[in-house]
Amino acid sequence: GWKMEDVMDEEIKVINNMVGSDDHVICALSGGVDSTVAATLVHRAIGDRLHCIFVDNGLLRYKERERVMETFERDLHLPVTCVDATEQFLSKLKGVVDPELKRKIIGKEFICVFDAFAKELENNLGKKPAFLVQGTLYPDVIESCPPPGTGRTHSHTIKSHHNVGGLPKDMKLKLIEPLKLLFKDEVRQLGRILTVPYSFLKRHPFPGPGLAVRVLGDVTENNALDTLRQVDEIFIQSIKDAGIYDSIWQAFAVFLPVKSVGVQGDQRTHSHVVALRAVTSQDGMTADWYHFEREFLDDVVQKICNNVRGVNRVALDITSKPPSTIEWE
Ligand code: XMP
Repeated sequence: GWKMEDVMDEEIKVINNMVGSDDHVICALSGGVDSTVAATLVHRAIGDRLHCIFVDNGLLRYKERERVMETFERDLHLPVTCVDATEQFLSKLKGVVDPELKRKIIGKEFICVFDAFAKELENNLGKKPAFLVQGTLYPDVIESCPPPGTGRTHSHTIKSHHNVGGLPKDMKLKLIEPLKLLFKDEVRQLGRILTVPYSFLKRHPFPGPGLAVRVLGDVTENNALDTLRQVDEIFIQSIKDAGIYDSIWQAFAVFLPVKSVGVQGDQRTHSHVVALRAVTSQDGMTADWYHFEREFLDDVVQKICNNVRGVNRVALDITSKPPSTIEWE
């Protein structure tokens, strides 16, 4: 096996060789482990010639923007520009139900926002940024485009991950992908050496397209995003309170564009169904559904139905990967 200290030193060397001494680099931070560790590594290599951007695309979790920006400033001392692009993303997603199309639209909008950020930097610095940092991991590489000789066929090309490929040719930014040979647990190890706070490293993964792939159907309808944020927050908080957050690879709620009949008080209701999903996994490539205690589930379902308007039914996803993927879209 490799020693992670050596991987770090080697990566810093590679970055310094690649990036010219007056080149500037941009990096989009998602608030997740991968982009945070990638940015911290590049910051270690080239210092304040790294310029980070955090995009609120309107598809983030409950209070995510505030929470993440606070951590970047307080714990990581990474200078980050925060851009609110909610309207820009949601207007493009209106009426879109096809999962692949959603991903493509979101990927494209991200690029538009980065492009604008790069142009603004160019105005301020008098020089175009030359590189873009991406927190691409090994599983992203092999699931999106299996390299030859890995024994993986194109049937493994299951979903288009927005952070692999798809960059417009006229963008003229070269990619820095310092994590592309690492698995998630290795990225966490690397982050620990880089003194990224543990609270940050142990966060569950969150997909680039955000809640768009957890609202089935049109994300702009049925107050879906707000409803989903509330359900998700209750679920995750309950998981933390039960002390099982670290035993789970990923947990989240899914909003279904389906209504069912319920009864609350002595009122008949016709409201939405949400699903809860929690899985264990080593690397996200395969996963098993997580077996909750019955009491835990009783409590969560009660909290959700009592506190979230517009939800009267909760389903539990007990499918593993394969045959399902972790995300629903
Ligand atoms: P699936 O749903 O394919 O997910 O079983 C495997 C892991 O990848 C995450 N995921 C993504 N991450 N951009 C990302 O950065 C994406 O487009 C994307 N799609 C899925 C997913 O949350 C899980 O951890």
